[in-house]
Amino acid sequence: MRGEPRSRIYLVLPLTLQDCPTTRDTMTTAATDRSPPAAHPNIAFIGGGNMARSLIGALIAHGADAGSITVAEPRADARDDLAREFGVRTYADNADAVAGAECVLLAVKPQIMRDVCAQLAEPLREIRPLLISIAAGVRIDQLQRWLGAHLAIVRCMPNTPALIGAGASGLCVNARVGAAQRALAERIFSAAGIVRWIDDEAQMDVVTAVSGSGPAYFFLLTEAMEDAAVSLGLPRETARALSMQTCFGAGRMLASSNETASQLRARVTSPHGTTEAALQVFAQGDLHALVLRAMKAATLRGGEMSAELD
Ligand SMILES: NC(=O)c1ccc[n+]([C@@H]2O[C@H](COP(=O)([O-])OP(=O)(O)OC[C@H]3O[C@@H](n4cnc5c(N)ncnc54)[C@H](OP(=O)(O)O)[C@@H]3O)[C@@H](O)[C@H]2O)c1
Repeated sequence: MRGEPRSRIYLVLPLTLQDCPTTRDTMTTAATDRSPPAAHPNIAFIGGGNMARSLIGALIAHGADAGSITVAEPRADARDDLAREFGVRTYADNADAVAGAECVLLAVKPQIMRDVCAQLAEPLREIRPLLISIAAGVRIDQLQRWLGAHLAIVRCMPNTPALIGAGASGLCVNARVGAAQRALAERIFSAAGIVRWIDDEAQMDVVTAVSGSGPAYFFLLTEAMEDAAVSLGLPRETARALSMQTCFGAGRMLASSNETASQLRARVTSPHGTTEAALQVFAQGDLHALVLRAMKAATLRGGEMSAELD
């Protein structure tokens, strides 16, 4: 990601939220408090990359005080961007960023998580913040092993649409997380989309298979529709525009409707019509079984990736 203009990603966020108020309100869980944090707890982000930027942008857009947010990021130009764009305090040293933090959010790649935890174990032992990890595949017991068993830990699996404020995050906790810490974690991630609590951490691999990897399934379907339209004679640009807008419009309808995907599908499927003809072909190919097989593979791979970090 080195050298990429990460700042551009956040710029999409407020536009998208304002464009789709009904969608977002419908998508957010009833249990989720999307009001700004009452007091502004000090939050330290370790790693100032794509995910951290989207969460910081969402928090500030929901009323969090930029002065309460610190970010540790090794690259000087990225630190300058973060400070300029969000007004947050930035540090080259992870230990400096966590001083005084009530919540430390680990937003580095899974492969370097063990080393980052080794650096942070001592400072975190003293300040005992709520520790949140968004690293794919990193289990709570691994974080406890690397950081010490005394910490309250939230493991979160966000997804890429969090970058435009339309994320879906699954969260689970260890036994040390109290109600106020749970509420804080929920406020952070509900600023960037919807939140669901997962009771059994083993199910986080399923969360990864649904919402973590899910955007790619959706992109694949859009890609397949575009390619098929070209094969059937449409110019590429027309095929792309119609496929993309159709998927966007259908997703937005689904998010703003009280009906399920299944009900909406039935509503647009007239007997003996064109849609029914296409859906019969999907059924002959047993699309449901294929999706189940694909998601089983993703779930299994998630478990393997966690084991590789042991
Ligand atoms: N992106 C997603 O869709 C997504 C979805 C779910 C979960 N996640 C998880 O979110 C985490 C972050 O992903 P991302 O996409 O935001 O990655 P990213 O853009 O690469 O951000 C990671 C950041 O950490 C910085 N970093 C590297 N070494 C560091 C260190 N020792 N201490 C502090 N910061 C350090 C990197 O700086 P340099 O660029 O200089 O190396 C980079 O700015 C990952 O664990 C990933 O599994 C991401």
